[in-house]
Amino acid sequence: MKYSAPKGTFDIVSKTLKPENFWKNIKPWKFIENILKKTAEDYGFKEIRTPIFEQMELFIRSVGDSSDIISKEMYLFEDKAQRSLALRPEGTAPAIRAFIENHLQQQGNYHKLYYLGPYFRYDRPQAGRYRQFHQFGVEAIGRGDPLQDVEIIDFCNQIYKNLGIKNLEILINSVGDSLSRERFTKAFLTFLKPHFEHLSHDSKERFYKNPLRILDSKDPKDQEILKECPSILDFLSDNSKNHFNEVCRQLTKINIPYQIKTSLVRGLDYYNETVFEITSNVLGAQNSIGAGGRYNGLIKTLGGPDLPSIGFATGMERILQTMIGQNCYFGEDNAPFVYIIALDNECMDVAFNLLCRLRHSNIASEMTPKARKMQKALQEADDYKAKYVVIIGENELTQSLAQIKDMTTRKATNVSLDSVLAYIQKLSTSSS
Ligand code: HAM
Repeated sequence: MKYSAPKGTFDIVSKTLKPENFWKNIKPWKFIENILKKTAEDYGFKEIRTPIFEQMELFIRSVGDSSDIISKEMYLFEDKAQRSLALRPEGTAPAIRAFIENHLQQQGNYHKLYYLGPYFRYDRPQAGRYRQFHQFGVEAIGRGDPLQDVEIIDFCNQIYKNLGIKNLEILINSVGDSLSRERFTKAFLTFLKPHFEHLSHDSKERFYKNPLRILDSKDPKDQEILKECPSILDFLSDNSKNHFNEVCRQLTKINIPYQIKTSLVRGLDYYNETVFEITSNVLGAQNSIGAGGRYNGLIKTLGGPDLPSIGFATGMERILQTMIGQNCYFGEDNAPFVYIIALDNECMDVAFNLLCRLRHSNIASEMTPKARKMQKALQEADDYKAKYVVIIGENELTQSLAQIKDMTTRKATNVSLDSVLAYIQKLSTSSS
């Protein structure tokens, strides 16, 4: 029996054989994760970790049962006590559930959380779309003012900048408050009615269940009809209009380039007011690298205090694929500082002893797994990208010496075995 990873999932390994699978190497993942976490911490976000499964109802109440995520894409299961559970399809609802359950509001009025981990959606896998994917996301809880929206959009812009990604587009829109949406929906349905027969199957269903989502349709016939449709921005209440105008004004003030896209509504029901999406021209059909928006009211709906919130999430796989497409830098390999070469079996004990002492001094070290000929061992040290090599052979043993070779200059120095550790410690401090 041959086993393989479930459809739509993949392994992340230390080294892939095929260059096109470079994005499944652990090195770029760690490089990106470190930058995302560092930038988040610099912006004042604190990490939160939640379970990968939750009560199914949590997602139905928050994401909305007419959304694709809930109606088609959730991984659902019952545990042995017949509890209905779901693998988390997104990170906002779990973060808010944890915020409420842990009474975080008692620790202050404003909270900025970030998370990174696997999420699950049962969809047709394709480039950039997986059944287990990884999101990095942030949620800012407690502020409803436009500057908070701008802080989040600026944060998105900054993480991509810090990763070296270029040419992204920030698309923003407002879906307003409930009054604005009610007014727009009425006008939108009136506009759509004469075209109903020509709408796609999905849009016909949405016409009754969640008309706003028709704006999201990728169907070419729907797109043609939608060209003439009214703009939601013309139906915003005064509050929503002022909020959105101020967000745009402040974004311009801090030089964040953006475009207003009036058809942007997003596929999750909890959004209101500002919504946004960041697209990458490298990604093809699945071009959304990150997305987010305001969700005032969600915390209350889930049983918590009535606090306004806004957040954003970005897909790790899409970041990676964009960075590869743009030839971005992924950092240096994590190489050992020292590679110890034992040239004879008799030297293995001494070499291993030195290896342990180096590691106990927190110096990244590796050694030949068995006695090796010089040429082959030096090749291995080069493959590891070691900075220094310690060579121990029969000659060195009889003289209680080790040869230390600088792999950049190729210069070799003899050092007494007793002082190798101190010698390397000195090299390591001066190189850091
Ligand atoms: P979302 O738009 O569903 O929003 O997902 C955000 C990002 O996750 C997408 O832009 C994409 O990069 C990535 N993504 C989504 N589905 C997949 C998939 N099947 N395969 C690979 N990548 C995927 C949310 O999840 C919201 N919770 C964002 C948010 C946070 N809103 C407020 N706070």
